[in-house]
Amino acid sequence: MNLSKTTAVAALILGVGVVTIFNQSCKKSSSSAPQTLYDSLGGTTMVSDPANPGTNVEKGYLGIRTIVDSAVFIIAADTQINKYFTVLLAEVTSGNFSGYQKLSTNLTTFLAVATGAKDYTYGGRSMSAAHNPSTNPRISETVDSADFNEFIVDVAKSATNNGLPSNLLSSVGTLMYTVEGQVVQR
Ligand code: HEM
Repeated sequence: MNLSKTTAVAALILGVGVVTIFNQSCKKSSSSAPQTLYDSLGGTTMVSDPANPGTNVEKGYLGIRTIVDSAVFIIAADTQINKYFTVLLAEVTSGNFSGYQKLSTNLTTFLAVATGAKDYTYGGRSMSAAHNPSTNPRISETVDSADFNEFIVDVAKSATNNGLPSNLLSSVGTLMYTVEGQVVQR
């Protein structure tokens, strides 16, 4: 394991948070199906959606979306990796949030489905197509391994800021590393 990956993994393991969105209860699911990571993140319990007054959203989805949205701000300010997001940053700077909304939805849904959500369908590109400028002009260049690790560090910061407990942070980190081979193309 190289040093930056070690740092990313340490950030995941050390992430200790105040339990807010992801307040865990010890009660077992009433169904006999095994508990998925999505269940641990809040699962299908319906809660009101603060971004869309009057509507409800699954608690697991809301928790992931909250981490994704705040991670985008951390990444936007991260001079090691914000160079990949020039299209998005130019749009947002000019007051156009449509690309951001789509990215938020696609990244949240991808992670929700990957953790075990059943009520959402990922509608974006494959991980290899999403991270290749020839198939996704919204990414400025192909990603290298050091920058992949930095992305994970930023997501871990966001998750910790949002109160994700360290055991779940570690599980989410492990899951994200499963797509490293498709995302890293340089
Ligand atoms: C586990 C790691 C990652 C996951 C699960 C992931 C997932 C995604 C998803 C779902 C999309 C949207 C695809 C679409 O709309 O068709 C996307 C777009 C993108 N990703 Fe990643 N990604 C990961 C890592 C990275 C890394 C390491 C970088 C760069 C350092 C990166 C940069 C981008 C960029 C620039 C876009 C386009 C953003 C936009 O639409 O404006 N991603 N990614």
